[in-house]
Amino acid sequence: MEDSAISIDYSLSMSDGVGPLGGLRDDELDAERASFSAGHKNFMAQVASGALGFWKLPSEKDQLAQVRAVAKGLPDTLSDVLVLGIGGSSLGARAIYQALSGPLELAGIAPRTHARLHFPDNSDPWLLAALLDVLDPKSTVALNVSKSGGTVETAAQLLVIKRWLESALTADEVRKRIVAITDPKSGNLRELALAEKWATLPVPSNVGGRFSLLSPVGLLPALLGGADIDALLDGAEYMQKKCEATELRENPAGVLAAVHVLQHRLRGRSLNVMMPYSDRLRPFAAWYVQLWAESLGKRIDRAGRIVERGPTPIAAVGATDQHAQGQLFMEGPRDKLVTFVQVAEPAKDLVIPHVKGTSSYLGGTTMHTLLEAEREGTTQALAMDGRPSLTVKLQRLDAFSLGGLFFLYEAATAFAGELYDVNAFDQPGVELGKKLAYGLLGREGYERTAQEIRELQSKRPKKYRAG
Ligand code: PA5
Repeated sequence: MEDSAISIDYSLSMSDGVGPLGGLRDDELDAERASFSAGHKNFMAQVASGALGFWKLPSEKDQLAQVRAVAKGLPDTLSDVLVLGIGGSSLGARAIYQALSGPLELAGIAPRTHARLHFPDNSDPWLLAALLDVLDPKSTVALNVSKSGGTVETAAQLLVIKRWLESALTADEVRKRIVAITDPKSGNLRELALAEKWATLPVPSNVGGRFSLLSPVGLLPALLGGADIDALLDGAEYMQKKCEATELRENPAGVLAAVHVLQHRLRGRSLNVMMPYSDRLRPFAAWYVQLWAESLGKRIDRAGRIVERGPTPIAAVGATDQHAQGQLFMEGPRDKLVTFVQVAEPAKDLVIPHVKGTSSYLGGTTMHTLLEAEREGTTQALAMDGRPSLTVKLQRLDAFSLGGLFFLYEAATAFAGELYDVNAFDQPGVELGKKLAYGLLGREGYERTAQEIRELQSKRPKKYRAG
């Protein structure tokens, strides 16, 4: 990859570019150098100890052979893949699929060269039920993705799909149509997979869900959807090397992390907008939102003090959201830092014809040029009003640059955790809601929770009802 395949322009987050109210001063960024180096060292020590496995996934090329071997064992007639997973076990694979597939293939209009992937990542039966009405069990495969192997939404879907396959196929045919991607040593899913003799692939024990897309969690769906998984890992590895730099300004993920954290801490910008100017990157923005939110939003810091800290990520897409959230970004509270993702060379373009009596300035230009002008116009409009932004530029959007982009944000998240002084790798806040739901569902061991929740429900003041 030439150096320009992914680059970051943070000039409009700095006071030289956007003025003193919206921008950081050089001395403010430089004052963070020592914290960054210390955080980087601490983080790399955890990588070296084996506690944080995601960092090394790009160089673990033996995964590729494992993934290919499982793909080879799937039925030849494969046309559809149900990716059963939620959160980190679904969003990354979906982001890869949309970024690297053609729009008509995605819409099911064009003839396909690869399997069609579906991501029913919710317990809402709306999508899954509709899919089961039209898919053919003979040519459908279910990838059951769950690191813990105990996530209720995914487990429920698996049970539904297993029954659906069993109602149409022999036990041997069913066996070939379910793959479990889970912890290699523990969990209910692993036990079930062994008992049922399903193919399995590992989510390494030291890799957390939202940092797992460069493991089989993302690689198997990506391969089945037609992506170049070698290039994906190569791009990530290229970025991994860059993110090993200990000097803040030489480390792209360090710069991203520091600018975000300082804009929050020193300028009160707690909202982080991710706005790719590319339909292909819409699900990337959703992946980023989960990664940033679940990693950085924490009640306690690493010393155990209550801090209730964290930025709020927001997904947007250009130019569409210029006509939706753009007004708020331009004139609303000055609490946002916007990241634009630019794709410099489009995969396809269209010339806008000259037509007499219509806007003459458009005639002869291209749709991509229009999109680029809109991105640049929005960037400059924000800057003119002292509102900061960053631009991450991809020369083109392919498997290599996408791998690099994913890794860039994984590393930036880890470094932002260091600078915010929170544990970016846990998610204790989502546990309570899960426990209460288990109680409502009558799960064994949660009887007291069920009782408690009923009491709480009965205490809700009834006078506040409308409609
Ligand atoms: O990032 C995370 O850890 C979560 O978003 C998980 O990926 C999500 O909760 C699904 O968990 P699991 O893969 O264990 O089913």
